[in-house]
Amino acid sequence: MSFSLAVFISGTGSNLNALIQHINEGQLKAKISVVVSDHEDAAGLAYAKQAQIPFLTLPQGLKRQEFDAQLIQSLSGFDFDLVVLAGFMRILGADFIQYVGGRIINIHPSLLPKYPGLNTYQKVLSSEDRYHGCTIHWVTAKLDAGPIIQQVSFAIEATDDLSSLKRKTQALEHQTYWQAIELIRLKKSLPPLVD
Ligand code: GRF
Repeated sequence: MSFSLAVFISGTGSNLNALIQHINEGQLKAKISVVVSDHEDAAGLAYAKQAQIPFLTLPQGLKRQEFDAQLIQSLSGFDFDLVVLAGFMRILGADFIQYVGGRIINIHPSLLPKYPGLNTYQKVLSSEDRYHGCTIHWVTAKLDAGPIIQQVSFAIEATDDLSSLKRKTQALEHQTYWQAIELIRLKKSLPPLVD
């Protein structure tokens, strides 16, 4: 039986593209049943269109509860085993996390618990850190604080700046996200219990 994903994006969608490539290459044994964007003009929707994956967009300006309610309604026609946040910039509420039974993961551009939230590259550059990287974690009601599934680091070089850190981190993200999804498909990582 196939393992299916709902992938949520807001922007460029390079992680969505990497997941599509890893599925096409047979490394990630899953299918993407729907792509969701909170911006109708998100550049990453082009990857969904190109791969003929159904997608849906939600109106902007909704409050969290309204947004979550519309999202739940829009998703009701789709089957998926896991929600994969891939650069999705909205915070989803406890109702949504409960709706998906805690089966929701996120990729974050830092070595959590260091630097939750935005501007991770600026934060790491103004620190004494020797390493940076990315973290894939289960999503809980607390921002960027759910149990870690996988984390990958690289050594920061003296010459690194914002753009090189972003390039290196995103290259690692593209190599890593599909592996975490495979761990979940194989039940080697289980979602936290939700109330
Ligand atoms: C990624 O770096 C991810 O870690 C963060 O947002 C970025 C999204 O990039 N949450 P993309 O849209 O996948 O290109």
